[in-house]
Amino acid sequence: MKILHLDSSVLDENSASRALTAKVAAAWKSANPQAVVRHRDLGAQAPQHLSPSYFAIGATPEDQRSAQQVSELKLSDALIEEFLAADGLIIGAPLYNFTIPSGLKAWFDRVLVAGKTFKYSAEGPVGLAGEKKVVIVATSGGKYEGTPVDAAHVGHLTTVLGFVGIKDVTVVRAAGLNMGPESRAAAVAAAEAQIAALFAGEPATVAA
Ligand SMILES: Cc1cc2nc3c(=O)[nH]c(=O)nc-3n(C[C@H](O)[C@H](O)[C@H](O)COP(=O)(O)O)c2cc1C
Repeated sequence: MKILHLDSSVLDENSASRALTAKVAAAWKSANPQAVVRHRDLGAQAPQHLSPSYFAIGATPEDQRSAQQVSELKLSDALIEEFLAADGLIIGAPLYNFTIPSGLKAWFDRVLVAGKTFKYSAEGPVGLAGEKKVVIVATSGGKYEGTPVDAAHVGHLTTVLGFVGIKDVTVVRAAGLNMGPESRAAAVAAAEAQIAALFAGEPATVAA
């Protein structure tokens, strides 16, 4: 079993989402000791934003591509490959300026590729990402569940995952983190309790 663990917080050791995604990874691994976890730090090392040069790669003959185009294409291919190979995904998604962090958006911009992770058909788009279990850890300073802000945060993530065919999505929320120490402690404790119960009773897999 392969698990892709994505963090996108820029707060390093002060990050609430990083601490919680680490707990998800540990719980998942404990339930599936054979699992191999691959970590991508999209806060520290976000893919570059899409650009005209990047979009010109497809139309540029291989021997005429710049060194930067070659390395950007290599990165995209690697990101898509590890995404498609993963059986499970952990996504650390803090709320930054009313939506997901730009590093996480930049990752989606690289992996949402027609013909690889989705295709168009006469009936509409079809997801190609296959069966994956996803755990989103959604942190926020305020509380927005059920509001348009939540739709632009958690709702956006479930929409995009659904677009590539992923329906098995669990959301762990830690909201109200910046509303005082009591609110923060309660939010973290609730999220930790949810994580502890996530894989309880899940039969350990044997396959790597
Ligand atoms: C750049 C930035 C933008 C933020 N924007 C919002 C926001 O729009 N709404 C909100 O409730 N909290 C906002 N926050 C607070 C974070 O959501 C909160 O601190 C949360 O813990 C972030 O998760 P993290 O600790 O894993 O980075 C913002 C924090 C940062 C650093």
